[in-house]
Amino acid sequence: MKKIIAANWKMNKNSQEAAQTVQELSAILNNTLPEKREVIIFPSFISLEASIHAAPENTVLQFGAQDVYPAKDGAYTGEVSPSMILDAGASWVLTGHSERRHIIKEDNAFVGQKTSFALASGLNVVACVGETLEEREAGRLYDVLSEQLNQTLAKLPTPLSPERLVVAYEPVWAIGTGKTAGSEDIIEAHAIIRELLKDIIGTSVFQTRILYGGSVKPENAAEILKLENVDGLLVGGASLKADSFAKIICA
Ligand code: PGA
Repeated sequence: MKKIIAANWKMNKNSQEAAQTVQELSAILNNTLPEKREVIIFPSFISLEASIHAAPENTVLQFGAQDVYPAKDGAYTGEVSPSMILDAGASWVLTGHSERRHIIKEDNAFVGQKTSFALASGLNVVACVGETLEEREAGRLYDVLSEQLNQTLAKLPTPLSPERLVVAYEPVWAIGTGKTAGSEDIIEAHAIIRELLKDIIGTSVFQTRILYGGSVKPENAAEILKLENVDGLLVGGASLKADSFAKIICA
């Protein structure tokens, strides 16, 4: 199974900057990827098409949106539907990112609606989960991950091929803080997620990739990728520069 290295560009880069980073990254990678790697870039909505068009023909890069609204079309001012994302040439979407949960106040039920609607509409999904420092210190890691996963994955379309749904574990206290979770923390959380997925989605669970995210950098990527149940990385800050992201891809 290929490990996924994903770049979450968040609210960074205009269209021109995004296109330039895609070109630089493609040039460094020479349009080939290390064996057993898949790479997905999540630019902002407004720079998604420019990013896709900047990639060479037969690019090894895949693209996705950072958010989606769970409806086909209609009166949802400011929102973007799955078919619009597919029409832009992207195939993935992030759901449940902690910045959307905590800043935009999305709850588990809404994240679940987005996840199932996006999958049913033909998008592949990276569904994000993770606890706050407060929740961790209160000993609520298992409960928080269980609540998030059970509601996020409550209504998965069937049949669903396992490579279309990816889970990203991102402890909120490690995102953009420079504090990476320790190996023990990552192993513990990923094992809990694998166990929970067994109950939620059943037998294909070992084909469901679980990514780690939170202050991943070129210096710690290889070590994290070796940990049990770590099937890839979701990278924010260190994905903004092509050379730094290329080092993580090749770690
Ligand atoms: P970070 O962000 O790598 O900057 O910590 C990760 C994420 O939020 O996806």
